Amino acid sequence: LHYEKAHFEASYGTIAQLPESNMPEVCFVGRSNVGKSSLMNKLFNHKGLAKVSSQPGKTANVNFFEADGVHFVDLPGYGFARVSGAEKQRWADLIWGYFESERSHNLVISLVDIRHDAQKLDLEMLSYLNQSGLPFIVALTKADKIAKTKQAQQRATLARQLGVDPMACVITSSQTGQGMKELKRFIENACL
Ligand code: GTP
Ligand code: MG
Repeated sequence: LHYEKAHFEASYGTIAQLPESNMPEVCFVGRSNVGKSSLMNKLFNHKGLAKVSSQPGKTANVNFFEADGVHFVDLPGYGFARVSGAEKQRWADLIWGYFESERSHNLVISLVDIRHDAQKLDLEMLSYLNQSGLPFIVALTKADKIAKTKQAQQRATLARQLGVDPMACVITSSQTGQGMKELKRFIENACL
């Protein structure tokens, strides 16, 4: 798959706007600020293609990118306290609406910060994914922020907390590129 061919396709503020598509789709979901947009840019080797911000709540729509006949879908984050109730609800509707809509859901990449214990909303997301039948893996993000020697232990802890196989948890860093090969292997197995 030629990730570097990725380009922005469109941005949707409501699920009703999503056009039908039979293209395989890989989506990125996780707390606000966990590093979804950054991980996509690293995958595409294209800084700034997906908009990144140090402030949580940057991605407020469902953003579609396309590379080599595969859709990469950047979803809004969950768990961001400082937006209005109505806006929070709109984001939640986008996330759940995307999962529930009839599309080619080839892989959900569920991002969790490797530095912390699993938080309530991450547990809820993983519990949903576990019973949804959607194919998913977990990407543990910001691995550059903890010692290499702690990474495997933290993966085991988080996998247990989240109720997922440690083999389905990829340790990643958008800063160093750690885990990108493994992530690409999962994507290609799911889409090709
Ligand atoms: P929302 O769109 O707000 O939901 O956030 P997001 O999940 O898309 O996060 P984003 O990619 O915008 O990154 C949030 C912040 O974390 C930015 O300041 C990034 O530079 C930083 N960041 C993301 N990934 C990494 C990483 O692997 N390592 C480090 N050190 N920082 C990262
Ligand atoms: Mg984002």
